[in-house]
Amino acid sequence: MHDRAFLVKHLRRFPLFSAVDETKLVKLIGRLRPRQVCASEPVFLQGTDGDELFLIVSGMIRIVLEPAGAREVTLAMLTAGDFFGEMSLLDGKPRSAAAYAVEDCELLSLLRSDFFEVMNGSPESIRRLLALLSGRLRQTNDRLQSVSLLSVRQRLAGLLCDLARTRGHSENGRGILLPKDVNHPSLAKILSTSRETVTRELAELRAQDLVAQEGRRIRILHVEGLEALLGRQDSAS
Ligand code: CMP
Repeated sequence: MHDRAFLVKHLRRFPLFSAVDETKLVKLIGRLRPRQVCASEPVFLQGTDGDELFLIVSGMIRIVLEPAGAREVTLAMLTAGDFFGEMSLLDGKPRSAAAYAVEDCELLSLLRSDFFEVMNGSPESIRRLLALLSGRLRQTNDRLQSVSLLSVRQRLAGLLCDLARTRGHSENGRGILLPKDVNHPSLAKILSTSRETVTRELAELRAQDLVAQEGRRIRILHVEGLEALLGRQDSAS
């Protein structure tokens, strides 16, 4: 839970609201509702009705498609400063995907009417919203491209590099330690592959001294080595 002064200071850091004028911003603060979500809990499920937009103050959210009888597909991993849940607000349709907390999250939610009030009369805010949505579409396109062009090993290497950068703990001379929740099942979910495949591919990366397994945690030993794999097309899929 944060006080008003904290929110005033931090709201401007959300790219979505960086162009909103001061008066509207102050008004907005009174309308934001804090919500805490524990690791692995859903914020909402795919197909449910939704009239709230969520801003991430801290933690990480996984956006996932959960088709009945088929393997789930991770669409995006969102972190502090990101927002989600805007699609149902904009088109009035059910949630297009589910949102789960990867780690304990602090969120702020905003009702549709309040969101529209903020955007109303601010072409610059609308332009920024469109730019942010375009960025999301680009990322989805990149992901689709990598699924069709890269092997599982290469995608795993790319994901480990991203995680090293965003969530890793750098230890002098000992590489980068990833958090506990980055395990074989969670990597498999993000890559939309099986846990067995992740275990097999990690064993290969270990054999190449690129990563190490320490109990349940993964240590990245050689980020550049993982990045180099991304340029190769010869690894197993
Ligand atoms: P909404 O449809 O309301 O609920 C699910 C949310 O997931 C959606 O709004 C977006 O905020 C987010 N979302 C859906 N598809 C993607 C995607 N391809 N990339 C990133 N976020 C997405």
